[in-house]
Amino acid sequence: MVAAVTRDNERARWLIAELRTDHAGETGAVEIYRGILAITRDEHLVAFARAHMQTEQSHLEEISRLVPPARRSILLPLWKLLGWLTGAIAAMLGRNATFTTIEAVETFVDRHYQAQVDRLRREGSEPAIMDLLDRLRRDEVHHRDDAHNRRTSTPTRFLRAWTGLVEGGSRVAVHLARLV
Ligand SMILES: [Fe+2]
Ligand SMILES: [Fe+2]
Repeated sequence: MVAAVTRDNERARWLIAELRTDHAGETGAVEIYRGILAITRDEHLVAFARAHMQTEQSHLEEISRLVPPARRSILLPLWKLLGWLTGAIAAMLGRNATFTTIEAVETFVDRHYQAQVDRLRREGSEPAIMDLLDRLRRDEVHHRDDAHNRRTSTPTRFLRAWTGLVEGGSRVAVHLARLV
């Protein structure tokens, strides 16, 4: 009995922390595209960023409903700034760098959502939330593939170092957002 209650509490705490990372991530995602749009004059990139940003805004709205303000990351201003800078720097580096960056980010986000969906499925808990997260994940996979199909060159060594930095930063951000 006590063990079951403890397990339920642990599960609830886990889900709250995970949804906080999702909310932080979708907030950052919108900012990535804002950063791109603030910098680029490339029409092809503008169309790409506008279309993706619309999806990210709807993701943010849906996740926001599950994460009341008191449960959001206190570091949101930082996630916004870092997201914006990621997009802006990528756009400064050009079209291919931007697609490569988005491909890397969305690869990370796909795995992030997948791990959450897997655990919820294993536990057979919160089916509505699991369905939502899986739907968002599928959108991110489309974003990843769209970026992949649009890039016309294989990433240079410099670009691989940059996306490595972005991935490492995303990993640290998720850890922090789980905590605060
Ligand atoms: Fe998203
Ligand atoms: Fe996305």
